[in-house]
Amino acid sequence: MTFSPELEAKFSKMLTIYPAGRQRSALIPMLMYAQDEVGAITPEVMNELASRLNITPLQVDEVIGYYSMLHKKPQGKFHVQVCTNISCLLVGGEELYHHAAKKLGIGHKQTAADGVFSLEEVECMGACSWAPAIQINYDFHHNVTPEKLDQLLNSIGKVQ
Ligand code: FES
Repeated sequence: MTFSPELEAKFSKMLTIYPAGRQRSALIPMLMYAQDEVGAITPEVMNELASRLNITPLQVDEVIGYYSMLHKKPQGKFHVQVCTNISCLLVGGEELYHHAAKKLGIGHKQTAADGVFSLEEVECMGACSWAPAIQINYDFHHNVTPEKLDQLLNSIGKVQ
């Protein structure tokens, strides 16, 4: 499998950062960059990165299973993650998730038919002090209310 020259350059540079024998530490950033380029972490991506880092595809799969930002299936152009863990739950996180599901017409780990939005209910994203928190692609949003969520989703819809 080949990636773009730009991504290959990033990978090459990344592998020089870690000491010999510790290149596997580059796995998570490599997975994120590959996901951005390919659209998902396909079996081909898994096998390729496992081979490059001298680990097994199963070890790659275990890492993917642990981190909610890594996906084996393509997500919507805008991937909406709503935290419903305890701090967010106590201040409306679950209601926010249901509000998002109703507004987008999709459920947990589903993608809208037009491919614009996908939705995921996630565990703590480390923003408990600003709960309830959501993440849209790489952007975090704090103290989110249903009204604020509507504004965010509507503004994204307008830039399509
Ligand atoms: S519980 Fe939601 S960010 Fe921590």
